[in-house]
Order: sequence, then C-alpha cells, then structure tokens
Amino acid sequence: MSQPVTTRPAVLVARAIFPDIIEQLSRHFDVEANPDDALWPREELVRRLQGKQGVFTTGSERIDAALLAQCPGLRICANMAVGYNNFDLPAMTAAGVLATNAPGVLTETTADMGFALLMAAARRVTEGEHFLRAGRWDRWAYDMLIGQDVHGSTLGIIGMGRIGQAIARRGALGFGMRVIYHNRSRLPEADEAAVGARYVSKQELLRTADHVMLVVPYSAESHHIIGAAELALMKPSATLTNIARGGIVDDAALAAALREGRLAAAGLDVFEGEPRVHPELLACRNVVLTPHIGSATVPTRRAMARLAADNLIGYLLHGKPLTPLNPQVATA
Ligand code: GLV
Repeated sequence: MSQPVTTRPAVLVARAIFPDIIEQLSRHFDVEANPDDALWPREELVRRLQGKQGVFTTGSERIDAALLAQCPGLRICANMAVGYNNFDLPAMTAAGVLATNAPGVLTETTADMGFALLMAAARRVTEGEHFLRAGRWDRWAYDMLIGQDVHGSTLGIIGMGRIGQAIARRGALGFGMRVIYHNRSRLPEADEAAVGARYVSKQELLRTADHVMLVVPYSAESHHIIGAAELALMKPSATLTNIARGGIVDDAALAAALREGRLAAAGLDVFEGEPRVHPELLACRNVVLTPHIGSATVPTRRAMARLAADNLIGYLLHGKPLTPLNPQVATA
C-alpha cells in the first residue's frame, strides 16, 4: 500500500540564529538557514524566498508590497523583534500574508537597558571611563564629571506600552521618581496608579522632566517627534534616552543641543539609518551610545527566537499563530 505523500512546508531563516532553534524548525519544516549571517541584498532575499511558505525575520528584512508580489507562496513572516517597522502591515494583509512579532518576552530586559542608559548619561559613566582610560585622572576635584541625580527626580516617559510601564515601575518604586508620561491614549486610572505615573501633555512633559525616556514605536506619525523645537522646551540640565527606534529623534538636532549645552546628556541605543551613526553624535562627549542592544540578554534573545519559531510552527502546521499582528489573515 502506498503511503500518502506529505510535503513539509519550507521556511527561510533570514539571519543567523541559535542552532537549537534551527533544529526545532527543522523538525517540522524544510529549512534554509543563513549560518554565516550574510546580509542578503533584496534580490537575493526574494530569490531565496521562492518556494517558501514562511520566513523568520529579525527586523533587518523589509517586507513590502513589491517583495510580496514576487513571493506568491509566502504565508507568514515571523519577526524576532517587538518592533515591526520593517513590515508594511497593510501590504501584508492585502496579500494575505500573516505578520507576527515578539511582544512581552523582552519587556523587562529592554526596560533595564533604558535605565542603564539613563543612569550612564545622567552620571556620565562612559565619559568618566574614557577620561580614566585616557590617563587624564590625576586628582580629585569637586566638579570632576559632576552630573545629574536620578533618584528623586522627574522621569518623563513618552510612549506608555508594556516597556514604558516597566520603566515607570522602576522609576517610581526603585528610584523614588515622580513619573509623568505622554501617550497617544491615556492609561486607565488603575493602570496609572499601578505604575505610579501621571498623564501630561507632551509640552508639559518636555518642560518639566529631568529625564525623558522615549519608548514609542516608529511610524510616520512618530518620525522626529523630538526635533529642535521639542529639545528647546527641555531643561538644560535634562537627559534624553531613546531605546525605541531611530528616526523618532532628529539626530542632527540632538547633536546640536548636546554640543551647545542646551541638554545635559543623552543615552541612545537606536539611530536613524543605523548601523550608521550621525557623525555629530559621535563627536559629542555627553552622549552614551550603544548598538541597538536593548533586548540583548541570553534568556531574552532565546525567548524572542523561540516565540518567532513557535509562530511559524503554530501557523503553518495548525493555523494558530501565537502573536499575530494582522489576525484577520489567520481567520480568513
Ligand atoms: C528591538 O528593537 C525590537 O523591536 O524587538
């Protein structure tokens, strides 16, 4: 008796990832991986996507209408990131392609990084290290590398999703900060009370916060929400931290404010056009710069990868993705 022919779905993993995740995917799919972590040009990505039903993306692969038109068999793109500005979601929905991201699993880790940058900027940690390594530390001085207090100050959070709320909790409970926030929509009062945060206008936040933290997703609406006009509202003693996405801040305007002492310091994990960094930011001593590592801890990166893999397995094998961004595609 002949066995029924079963074809396994084919999946492309667009960037290098934990080997055991590739093994997990290989138990269910025909997997094409990218062990060298090559940054495939778009035409090559399109070529490798031929005959694939799923793709594991990492945020560096742009999925839009033009790509989808050339990949008619594609059914799901699973992003190993909570942000998904590399996806043209309406185009994916129109093409019937499911999009998933990796929310929840990186919240606390990314909030930790926000605090690390805020504290490093306020207390001039990396500037102090550069000073010491350069052999310039030859005595104590009352004003050597004096910075700003974090405890007891006012923390202004722009964007109050999961990560914003995790930062608010750290500020209010751990550092005794007054926490104010601005968001597209106000949180229910019980949620505000739970994280100890008060809703204010963006202008009031910028005028009164000692430390401003940006945690909004990137979109056309959030492009350059912090530019020269907004920086001009901030106190010269204030700091600005961006752990969200490049392009939310006008990097040239920020560099000018830092250089001219109109802002005390900044902490940046994300940049417009990264991995390039604006040369004027590189020239500023009062900015702490990290290469988009907000979620980069071993357990969190593993959890993100597993969630992306589970989305591929859930959808391609059972029609049930875990964290869909356009669930109407799954139920259509
Ligand atoms: C990281 O930037 C993410 O969006 O997960």
